Amino acid sequence: MSFWKKTRPIVGLAPMDGITDAPMRQITARYGQPEVIFTEFVNVEYAAAQPNKLFNRFWYSSDQRPIVVQLSGVNPDLFYQFALIAAELGFDGIDINMGCPAKSVTARGGGAKLIGNKKLVEKLILSVNKGLDDWQKGKGLDSLDKNLFLALEKTRQKNRQWGGVNKAKKSPPALSIKTRLGIDRPLVEDWLNFLLSLPIETLIVHGRLVSQGHSGLVDWVSLSRAADFAGRENKAFIGNGGIGSFREGEEVCQKYNLDGVLIGRGALGNPWVFTNQKVAKEEKLLVMMEHARCFVDLFGEDNFVVLRKHLAWYAAGFPGAKKLRVELVRTSCLSEVEKIVNHFYLIFN
Ligand SMILES: Cc1cc2nc3c(=O)[nH]c(=O)nc-3n(C[C@H](O)[C@H](O)[C@H](O)COP(=O)(O)O)c2cc1C
Repeated sequence: MSFWKKTRPIVGLAPMDGITDAPMRQITARYGQPEVIFTEFVNVEYAAAQPNKLFNRFWYSSDQRPIVVQLSGVNPDLFYQFALIAAELGFDGIDINMGCPAKSVTARGGGAKLIGNKKLVEKLILSVNKGLDDWQKGKGLDSLDKNLFLALEKTRQKNRQWGGVNKAKKSPPALSIKTRLGIDRPLVEDWLNFLLSLPIETLIVHGRLVSQGHSGLVDWVSLSRAADFAGRENKAFIGNGGIGSFREGEEVCQKYNLDGVLIGRGALGNPWVFTNQKVAKEEKLLVMMEHARCFVDLFGEDNFVVLRKHLAWYAAGFPGAKKLRVELVRTSCLSEVEKIVNHFYLIFN
């Protein structure tokens, strides 16, 4: 039985490009223990062209289970290959991104551009399922491109050494799709019910239209209608959009009969969003430092600029936080962050 069937309600960490990287997920797993954790999307076309650059999106630790890797793109052959890679790396789930409105993703027909492109969507799902079938039969890996195979081996080693991920699992990853309610109007029957008729285990829907971007009302009533249909198809249905606490997530699931929700922006600098726990500034700053150390451990100080936004997200909700944020977003190494935090304590304690 896959993890999608085990608990109710599921309150998990949503995929966020440039944000839910391995260190962020590690800290979220440690302090929030959500029921499921998503990686950022991995674009199969870019990852195939530049495996050395993008395979760090596959780094994870066993603490992060159940972990779902999200794939985006449009090339069925590459989806086949990346299904094999995800299975071989031991991910608990594979999710296909059919909702991202970013131009870099939609320009080639992926993400939100897949909404309504039923022919291509069917092909992608078929390819992933074929990859998972072949993997279970011990086939397919020899068909991988040589560079992809080398990147897979390196990643496997990294996950073993850094993340304590020992053996590939025997069962294949559970397949899900994450999408939006529609482009400029809700498409429950035309789109969501179509997706639910495909051989997937779970459907995740951000309850906003593509035209709404990342703000505006979340249409829980339409999500609830799709959830009824999912129930009849014996599939899990997860809603998403604007959830700010674990308690709110539970309430929404109960009210709209959903199997779970994902939290995105509510988890920024706030792994405790999954616990109902209120934390003091001391703990926030300690965990911020732990996040920074984990980041440097994995990615080195050369990439410190990527971490700065996370530091700023932790520095919120207490006296002096604004001034602290201004200083944190200018840092370029761990020792600078330590100095700033120590100075902050001298002034504010
Ligand atoms: C910066 C950012 C990056 C995102 N990246 C992804 C992504 O890689 N894949 C995806 O399916 N959704 C992505 N999303 C959408 C979120 O997963 C989620 O659906 C959306 O933020 C709504 O949830 P929230 O209101 O809890 O944040 C992203 C959202 C944001 C704000």
